[in-house]
Amino acid sequence: MSTQVTDDHSATGVVEPANGSALATSLPESIPAVQRMRQLASLTTLPFMCVDGGSGDVLFRQEELALGLMPEAIRERLDEFDVPQVVVLDSGLMFYGTRLPSHEGRGLLAIGYMLSEPGARPQDVVIGAAEAGWSNERLANWLGEQRHSHPQIVKRLLETGDGRVGRNELMEQEIEHLSRHVEQTYEEISLLHAVTGKMQISRGVLDIADLCLERLHASIPAGGTLVYLEDRPGQTHMPYLGELPFSEDSLVRLVARFDDHDWSQPVVRNHMGRTLLGAEFPGLESLVIVSISEGSHRSGWIVCCNCAEGGEFGSVEASLLNSVASILGTHLRNIHLYREHDELLLGFVRSLVSTLDAKDPYTAGHSERVALVARLLGKAMHLPEGDLHDIYLAGLLHDIGKIGVDDNILRKPGDLTDEEYKSIQAHPALGYEILSGLKNLHPVLPGVRSHHESYNGTGYPDGLQGEGIPLMARILAVADSYDAMNSDRPYRTGMPVDAIETIFHRGAGHQWDAKVIDVYFGIRDDIARICRDHTRSDRTILSELSGEFQN
Ligand SMILES: [Fe+2]
Ligand SMILES: [Fe+2]
Repeated sequence: MSTQVTDDHSATGVVEPANGSALATSLPESIPAVQRMRQLASLTTLPFMCVDGGSGDVLFRQEELALGLMPEAIRERLDEFDVPQVVVLDSGLMFYGTRLPSHEGRGLLAIGYMLSEPGARPQDVVIGAAEAGWSNERLANWLGEQRHSHPQIVKRLLETGDGRVGRNELMEQEIEHLSRHVEQTYEEISLLHAVTGKMQISRGVLDIADLCLERLHASIPAGGTLVYLEDRPGQTHMPYLGELPFSEDSLVRLVARFDDHDWSQPVVRNHMGRTLLGAEFPGLESLVIVSISEGSHRSGWIVCCNCAEGGEFGSVEASLLNSVASILGTHLRNIHLYREHDELLLGFVRSLVSTLDAKDPYTAGHSERVALVARLLGKAMHLPEGDLHDIYLAGLLHDIGKIGVDDNILRKPGDLTDEEYKSIQAHPALGYEILSGLKNLHPVLPGVRSHHESYNGTGYPDGLQGEGIPLMARILAVADSYDAMNSDRPYRTGMPVDAIETIFHRGAGHQWDAKVIDVYFGIRDDIARICRDHTRSDRTILSELSGEFQN
């Protein structure tokens, strides 16, 4: 079905197209009223015109209604067509119609007509045809082609069609709404997926904040996006992307303006330029603020400001920011719990080690130095941060089994008897037993048990050999031997570094793993410095513990 569209936009808009049939075209095809008229025509198979409900002017009509008839008798009764209605005129013409969506404040109607009985030659049609310049023959042909029907049937058709078109429209609106919702949800889920996929506890808070910021700024059309975080008390960060019309200090002031706000909900403001708040923060036109909370504690905010191209922020942006803030808050909480747990564990380990140091003041500080040296060796071997943490703890705890060895044997300055030596050799297995009951310390067990194994299999307690000795233990063995030889004892002073290194050269591949010895030589100066620094402070601590160093 084609419709002639011209530039004529007069009220009646009746023009003469090339084929000679006059069509009213003062309404564009795309407006909802015309679309609905077309749907109604297609569902009822009735032809229609789009009529101004006030004046009765014909504004648009289908080709089937070659004559835009609007008799005075119908013009006077237009308000009846507010609902599906059929009006039969004495002339033998039947008009039917119903209401259409209004256009630019104009009430519109879909109205059509047909013969109410076969063979009728209504007066209005004759006059209309004459005005349109039709010949008698053309009029006769046209009348012969016209449909006729019973008013009740037409009314029923109209009511059914009207109802279905209404339902179709509702469904279309619903579908459009749902697709928009699905699209937004998809965008939100893909963003959250990207962020949560990279949330390992080992990643720092700022790292995760940067990731969130990057994704949010790419998804939300904002002039500027920021994440404000208070990681530790008094330690704040404010990474941002884009342009911000305020500094970190002003942000705190801005957020303080919403002190009364219920922070479980986002703050959304548009058109701020003309408000008091906008005057206080020049350049700020619109914003969304959500709170990053860890339970009841607020750790920061995510802010988007100045919606692009003068647009407005709404529930979509607020919901996205809220979801990211909630994930960030949970992650922060986890990181803080992890830190607390780690500090608790370290505190426990240190108190265990100080018990050991108190038993044998001459070797006090040894565990700490072994831990630091082993960590340095691991770092030079490019081990991951988690492994370095475990190596450090294992260093602190490697001799913890000595807690179970008689103090007199530990402190004995001279040669040990075989039995005493055996008693001391029991300490790695004893340490393993003590710690194996503590689940959080399981990662350090290989180092504690095997730090006296030799690379050639002559060590204890299990006589392990080569790569069969856990790497952590092979690293600890080098660190432990270095500090043991380097430290002073009541019966001897510490061995000079060059003498230790000669022994290392000789023992590489026999007592120690040659690869770890190589790593030692790569960082020998750093190791010497660490041991020097930690020996001084340990002596000070020792002098407080017992008065023996003064003697
Ligand atoms: Fe040991
Ligand atoms: Fe040791």
